[in-house]
Amino acid sequence: MKIGFVGAGRIGATSAFTCLQHMDVDEIAIVDIMEDLAVGEAMDLAHAAAGLDKYPNIKGGSDYSLLKRSDIIVVSAGLARKPGMTRLDLATKNAGIIKDIAGKIMEYAPESKILVVTNPMDVMNYIMWKETGKPRNEVFGMGNMLDSSRLKERLYAHGARNIRKAYMLGEHGDSMFLAKSLADFDNEVDWAKVEEETRFVAAEVIKRKGATIFGPAVSIFRMVRAVVEDTKEEIPTSVILDGEYGIKDVALGVPAILGKNGVEKVVEYDFSEEELEGFKRSASILKERLKELGY
Ligand code: 2OP
Repeated sequence: MKIGFVGAGRIGATSAFTCLQHMDVDEIAIVDIMEDLAVGEAMDLAHAAAGLDKYPNIKGGSDYSLLKRSDIIVVSAGLARKPGMTRLDLATKNAGIIKDIAGKIMEYAPESKILVVTNPMDVMNYIMWKETGKPRNEVFGMGNMLDSSRLKERLYAHGARNIRKAYMLGEHGDSMFLAKSLADFDNEVDWAKVEEETRFVAAEVIKRKGATIFGPAVSIFRMVRAVVEDTKEEIPTSVILDGEYGIKDVALGVPAILGKNGVEKVVEYDFSEEELEGFKRSASILKERLKELGY
């Protein structure tokens, strides 16, 4: 089993570390334009592995041929939003980066599944899909899995217990919504408060430590594991939709079954009118952004 990473920043490196700790990985490849960083992270990871009595083949560098025969490639490369930068500035720069990565992945690892993490993620996921020309089950994004972890944390903090299911869905961004009709836990909570806190809690982390790292890394690991171990788990995933929930030709977060084929199935629940409106709102915002970028 081989996992590739494009982007050796803190999210790429920490998610590689999480995968290494929790799975039996045969090979890890980390590619970054900053070659020394990728090589250094690969060395450090190999030392961590040996400490766990594991000896996978871990390589880092700037050459995309390192990704050959990856089962799944996690793409977290790109710029993070800097003060004064608009969302569109970020999207324009990262769209160019994603387009470039798409071409290189198709050259060296055309069979690999691709998990997109770079923000604005749903938009980048769609661009990756378009630019690779891959089937839509093989390109998907990490966003609502993390939003849903934040939701569970906030629910617990507000008194919920035995949380069996709790999803944030739609855009991995401001228009995300709490899927109340699926939520399953004990005790009562103030829904509006929990939803509001969940939506903005990442910004609180970024304000304090400059970035979110552990949260994303664990969500990436969960999604990678579902694919490489073919667990067929239901995970909120950014999927390129083709009519599900009445939405087409845009990527956004929906409950999906992940397995060895990537997105094995979009699960179509009987959502309330309000929730269906939530999907539509996110879809129209994301389509508008794609249009601004020429897609
Ligand atoms: C997060 O939600 C910023 O997408 C990143 O942590």
